Amino acid sequence: MILPQEIIRRKRGGAPLRAEEIEAFVRGLTNGSVSDAQASALAMAIFFNGMDRDECAALTLAMARSGTLLDWRAAKLPGPAIDKHSTGGVGDLVSLILAPAAAACGLYVPMIAGRGLGHTGGTIDKLESIPGYTTQPGKERFIDVVRRCGCAIIGQTADLAPADRKLYAIRDVTATVESIPLITASILSKKLAAGLEGLVLDVKTGSGAFLPSPDDARELVGSLLEVGARLGLPVRVLVTDMNEPLASSAGNALEVMAAIDFLTGTRTDPRLQEVVLQLGVEMLRLADKTLGADEAARSLQKAIASGAAAERFGKMASALGAPSDLMERPRAHLTPAAVIRPVYPRRRGHVVAIDVRALGLCVVHLGGGRRAAGAAIDPSVGLSMLARIGAFVDENAPICMAHACDEAAAAAAAEMIAGAYRVADEPSALAAHPLITRITS
Ligand code: URA
Repeated sequence: MILPQEIIRRKRGGAPLRAEEIEAFVRGLTNGSVSDAQASALAMAIFFNGMDRDECAALTLAMARSGTLLDWRAAKLPGPAIDKHSTGGVGDLVSLILAPAAAACGLYVPMIAGRGLGHTGGTIDKLESIPGYTTQPGKERFIDVVRRCGCAIIGQTADLAPADRKLYAIRDVTATVESIPLITASILSKKLAAGLEGLVLDVKTGSGAFLPSPDDARELVGSLLEVGARLGLPVRVLVTDMNEPLASSAGNALEVMAAIDFLTGTRTDPRLQEVVLQLGVEMLRLADKTLGADEAARSLQKAIASGAAAERFGKMASALGAPSDLMERPRAHLTPAAVIRPVYPRRRGHVVAIDVRALGLCVVHLGGGRRAAGAAIDPSVGLSMLARIGAFVDENAPICMAHACDEAAAAAAAEMIAGAYRVADEPSALAAHPLITRITS
C-alpha cells in the first residue's frame, strides 16, 4: 500500500517515480481514493520537476488502462482506425472538419477529445453547444456510430480514459497544463484507450500555444514520438502556428457554426483549410503508405467540396442525438449570445502581433471556459470575425465582434481584446509566421 502523499512528496523532492507508484496513484485517482487536492498537488510537482521518459510512459499507460481499451481489429471495422489530436489552441476547430473529411475518405475516426483546457477551447465543449449531442454515449453506441458514420467525436467517459477525464479537469483550473509529460500522457492515454492504428498530432507553437517557444514545441514533439513508439502507437507530428487564431471565430457555438459553414462551403478560411488538408494528408498516408501526398490532398479536397464530409458530420451528430437538420439550419439550433458588439482597436493601423493566449482567456472570462472544475459554461459567447495579422483596423474596421451575456461583459472583453492586438502604422514583414513549420514521422 503506497500512500498518495508519499508519492507526491517524492516527486516534490525531484525523485523519479517508480511505475508501481504511478499505477497506484492513477488507480486511486480513478476510484476516488486519491482526492482532487492530492491530484492537483502531484500535477504541480510534475509541472515543476518534470518526468523522465520512463515515468511519462508509465503514466500514459496507467491512464490509458484506467478504463476499457477498445480493440477495433476485434470489432472488425472495414477500414483503419486513425485519429488526429491537437495540443490545444484558440479558434482551432480542425477536428470538427477533419474527422468527417477523413471518414469520407474511407478512414474510421474514433475521436476521444477533451473539454476546454486553460485558455484553449475544447472540442467536447464545442459539440455540447449542439442541442441533444451526447459526448458520453457509452462504449457500444460509440462503436456503433464509428462503424455507421466513419467517425464519432466523444469525450473521455467513465469507461474510456477516466483518469484523464479527472486529471484534465483538475489541470484546467490549477495552472498545471503546460507540462510536457502531463500533455504527453493526457493525449496519448486517450488515444491508446481508443485503440487506434495511427495518430496524427498537431503540436501548436506561438503565443496561443501552451508551449509558445519553438524549442519547447520541439521537446514536446520528441516526447510524443518517443512515448508513442514505446507504447506501440504509430505517431506523425505536424507543428503549426498559433500566433493568430486558426479560424476567425473563438468560442463554442461560434466555432461549431464556423465548422458547419466550412463544411457546407458557405465560408472557407485559407489558413484553416491548409492545416486541415496537411493533417488529413498525414492521416491518409498513415493508413496507406503507398499513397502520395498530392493524391491524399485531392481526396480530402473532394470530400469537402462534394459535401461528403458535411454529410458525415450531420450523420454523426444526429446519431449522437443532434437535430437531423443541423447542417441545413444550424442557426436555428445554435443559440446566439444576448449581446453582440464590435471591438475597436486602441489606434488605427495594421495588426502586427496578437496575444492569442489573452484572446483565449477573454473567451474564458466571457463564460466560454471554466473557473472551477466541472462548472457550467455559456456556449453562446466568444469572438467572431477576428482580424488577422496584417489586417488594417480602425474606427470603421473593428478587430472582431464580441459575443457576450450582457453589456458589461462585452465592454470588459473589448478592453482585453484591444490590449491583445498590437497595431502599427505599417504592416511588419517580421509578423508573418510560417503556418506549418515542421513535419516529422
Ligand atoms: N490535449 C489534451 O488532450 N491534453 C492536454 O494536456 C493538452 C491538449
